[in-house]
Amino acid sequence: MDLVVLEKALIGLFVAIVVAITVSKFRGKRFKLPPGPFPVPVFGNWLQVGDDLNHRNLSDLARKFGDIFLLRMGQRNLVVVSSPDLAKEVLHTQGVEFGSRTRNVVFDIFTGKGQDMVFTVYGEHWRKMRRIMTVPFFTNKVVQQYRQGWEDEVAAVVQDVRNKPEASTTGIVLRRRLQLMMYNNMYRIMFDRRFESEDDPLFVKLKALNGERSRLAQSFEYNYGDFIPILRPFLRGYLKICKEVKERRLQLFKDYFLDERKKLASPKSSDNNELKCAIDHILEAQQKGEINEDNVLYIIENINVAAIETTLWSIEWGIAELVNHPHIQQKLRNEIDSVLGRGVQVTEPDTHKLPYLQAVIKETLRFRMAIPLLVPHMNLHDARLGGYDIPAESKVLVNAWRLANNPAHWKNPNEFRPERFLEEEAKVEANGNDFRYLPFGVGRRSCPGIILALPILGITLGRLVQNFELLPPPGQCKIDTSEKGGQFSLHILKHSTIVAKPRA
Ligand code: HEM
Repeated sequence: MDLVVLEKALIGLFVAIVVAITVSKFRGKRFKLPPGPFPVPVFGNWLQVGDDLNHRNLSDLARKFGDIFLLRMGQRNLVVVSSPDLAKEVLHTQGVEFGSRTRNVVFDIFTGKGQDMVFTVYGEHWRKMRRIMTVPFFTNKVVQQYRQGWEDEVAAVVQDVRNKPEASTTGIVLRRRLQLMMYNNMYRIMFDRRFESEDDPLFVKLKALNGERSRLAQSFEYNYGDFIPILRPFLRGYLKICKEVKERRLQLFKDYFLDERKKLASPKSSDNNELKCAIDHILEAQQKGEINEDNVLYIIENINVAAIETTLWSIEWGIAELVNHPHIQQKLRNEIDSVLGRGVQVTEPDTHKLPYLQAVIKETLRFRMAIPLLVPHMNLHDARLGGYDIPAESKVLVNAWRLANNPAHWKNPNEFRPERFLEEEAKVEANGNDFRYLPFGVGRRSCPGIILALPILGITLGRLVQNFELLPPPGQCKIDTSEKGGQFSLHILKHSTIVAKPRA
């Protein structure tokens, strides 16, 4: 059986080579393509550049080929832009032209071919989904409605850590407890639900399925079948696992959360705005016939990934940098003590009075961007960019990490120095007011969750630092901050053990 597949693959490969050569000759005449390594038929540049197209490797290629370059990855065109001007062009000036998303074979599965919001092309469906999600998720009213809940969640983290004697001696993997906190922060908004402990069986199941989804989607190991369709039969096993995980996950969302909420929502309570949680708003849109149940489930899927993981990774990076820079940690603690008074617990309104806390958050998002290549953009039609032709349906990556870490544009970018955001970069905000700094993107497809992410980061880091001295485990002077990049994500490779000494 495998031999038959192999034989077919080889014949197909031969045909594809002939077609590719013909097409590339034909295309070469028509298009002025961006520079890049010379592609070979069928494989393009894949064999030259490899699979691991993370932000650092793409920065190296930018140094070689320039601020805009093109990689042919098998059948797919990948355009990478690495300058503020070109980022502005993609995200702002030509925001409509480049406002769609590419999906690959795996994201096709997890998003039902774009029935969600994050991975859908720019158009009517995206506009509708973004509108429907705005009121329940992305307004200041939501922040004010839920911020006390977030404050309670982090207070519970502080209490739990205090109750663990080993936290102050050998240390704990703080991230595990913070993960529960992030789920609770978002599940309160979505379903008015929370999980009692890290051992809650439903939480354990949910966390495992979400983790598996992320691992499968962000991995580079399926690139070959995505780039070279003829090799796709060899990917069958991988795609089957993706489909199973997707089904089990959506079923879990439906059985344990959506259907439970539907049972609870009486007509009386849904009239009362105060009692509504996000999913009630979304279900109303479904009842009005604006979206279907699959769309509802994909909204839940999007929030599980886009909101929880990104914020958790950023918190984890923030803690890692604070542990490795004790003087910065102490300066932050001093600020909180002197502005609020010792022992007065940081709340969301307080975060606006703490400029150094804001600077620490900005610097974390600059140096350790959770989504360093943004979510891939795409042009539905042939387009022009930086004087070059961009063929329709190219995957367009904005290397936001490079923009924010380029020594030509930043003073000592390799140094973790929050002070830069109080000194030479004092005017730079995280909302995209400067095209050198786009941790949440900017423009039509920018992150709407910034309005929730920034206060959650402020409350969480603020409370941890004011209640504990955060240190590396005994015998280590720093924690390991090796990175793990994915298709477009960046998180810490090892979830470190951290000593959290309660302040006397
Ligand atoms: C520190 C935390 C976060 C970071 C660093 C982050 C970053 C990003 C980035 C870079 C994008 C893509 C922008 C682009 O392609 O131009 C994005 C998109 C998105 N984010 Fe976030 N995000 C965070 C938290 C959140 C939260 C809390 C939510 C929801 C509650 C959220 C929901 C979304 C959605 C729905 C999109 C897709 C927007 C679209 O395609 O129209 N994010 N995020």
